[in-house]
Amino acid sequence: MGFSRVLVPFLPMIILLLASSEASREIIVGSHQVSWKIPESPNKTLNHWAEQTRFKVGDVLVWKYDAKVDSVLEVTQQDYNGCNTTNPIKEHKDRNTKVELVHSGPFYFISGAQGSCEKGEKLEVVVLSPNHWKNNNSSDTTPLPSPAPAPRPKKGDAHGLKAGILGAFMGLGIWILM
Ligand SMILES: *[C@@H]1O[C@H](CO)[C@@H](O)[C@H](O)[C@H]1NC(C)=O
Ligand SMILES: *[C@@H]1O[C@H](CO)[C@@H](O)[C@H](O)[C@H]1NC(C)=O
Ligand SMILES: *[C@@H]1O[C@H](CO)[C@@H](O)[C@H](O)[C@H]1NC(C)=O
Ligand SMILES: *[C@@H]1O[C@H](CO)[C@@H](O)[C@H](O)[C@H]1NC(C)=O
Repeated sequence: MGFSRVLVPFLPMIILLLASSEASREIIVGSHQVSWKIPESPNKTLNHWAEQTRFKVGDVLVWKYDAKVDSVLEVTQQDYNGCNTTNPIKEHKDRNTKVELVHSGPFYFISGAQGSCEKGEKLEVVVLSPNHWKNNNSSDTTPLPSPAPAPRPKKGDAHGLKAGILGAFMGLGIWILM
């Protein structure tokens, strides 16, 4: 078809556009299949792992475990600290638990198995807000509406790119109409 031939020169831009909307990642908790257990040593806690991992909004945590003996409880900070399993926000015991990190900030998970949380089978994940991905200390971290027209190179580039792509598509539309 003539129409698809017309689109070919724009393929790189279309691919770029799709790639820029980030896909969600699945992250296996502890990186290994059998990480949801009492840590073997204080060096091997899940929080040790979590500190070395960057979590983004939209990432999906995956736990694998034997549902006969264990579960994953999402709890409040207080219940996390006290290993209180009586009133979790959510209880998962499907042996292949997936939890999407839907907001920035902390998430707390503890084992539902008797006594396991006390022995270290627990996980705190902190999802950084998008602004914290760059320089924590720069003016970037201030919220969006800033009266002064300060230069914001990274964001400006992104907007410019999107505007450019949009413009290209509009140009294409006009060209097809003619
Ligand atoms: C923890 O790791 C350090 C080095 O990173 C090591 O010297 C120490 O023996 C480890 N401790 C345990 C209990 O494994
Ligand atoms: C655990 O939490 C429940 C309610 O959330 C509370 O009633 C109970 O006292 C707590 N247990 C401990 C040991 O803190
Ligand atoms: C950024 O700074 C805040 C305090 O202003 C601190 O709590 C947070 O841990 C820092 N984040 C990073 C990634 O350094
Ligand atoms: C953040 O900025 C302050 C001054 O505004 C400075 O004293 C501090 O060292 C900076 N911290 C980092 C991590 O760059």
